[in-house]
Amino acid sequence: MESVDYHQALALLHWQIELGATEAICDAPVNRYEVPAAVEKPKAQKGKSGPVPLAAQGPDVVAEATQAAAGAATLDELRAAMAAFEHCELKRGARKMVFSDGTPGARVMIVGEAPGRDEDREGRPFVGRAGVLLDKMLAAIDMGRHHQTSPVYITNVLPWRPPQNRDPKPDEIAMMKPFLARHIALAKPEVLVIVGNWSAQALLGKRGITRLRGQWTQAEGLPALPMFHPAYLLRSPEFKREAWADLLSLKAKLTHG
Ligand code: URA
Repeated sequence: MESVDYHQALALLHWQIELGATEAICDAPVNRYEVPAAVEKPKAQKGKSGPVPLAAQGPDVVAEATQAAAGAATLDELRAAMAAFEHCELKRGARKMVFSDGTPGARVMIVGEAPGRDEDREGRPFVGRAGVLLDKMLAAIDMGRHHQTSPVYITNVLPWRPPQNRDPKPDEIAMMKPFLARHIALAKPEVLVIVGNWSAQALLGKRGITRLRGQWTQAEGLPALPMFHPAYLLRSPEFKREAWADLLSLKAKLTHG
């Protein structure tokens, strides 16, 4: 590219932002058309098809995660065990690990999906636009991360940001699930609020939040309420009515059991 002066560079940057770019990935552009087409495909094993099972990929990472999580006797130890866990590829691309926010020991534990760009920068869950809406939703029922009488505790299924906010992969959920289960056991909430499809996948083994939301169920031995993810509500505000009904249901559960 010809050299550009400061003003041209700034104009180019503005143009990219208008197109929707939110992040610089690397210093030099990559021309993907020049990447050699002849990438050798892995040879198919005779008589076998479908994804390679986790166990066949090397060490049993789920067993390792389970063991590491079980060894944690406190939330601080669990945080340290997760930070030392090297099998999740997401860790390499993330800026910060996002463990939790709010008040440990609160009656309500909210389980989100995975950090986004803002959470990755700050190291706390739900601090971006979705987080602002989540805080407003909680405030509407007199709750909050550090509310004096009705605090909540917040975490995510994945502690590291998936690149470009892509969906979590099944193996990533599977290897981080033992840490989530231990997290819930150590935080000892009375109820879980499961926000979004991937949290439902991790804790209930199924997706379809439109069908699941608002129906109390059980997860990790606790009453659990699936709800729409606040990021979804930002995109589809017409569903805020359902979210409000679910918040009232949460409040009623805490008040009347
Ligand atoms: N979405 C989530 O599910 N979790 C966060 O922490 C932020 C956005």
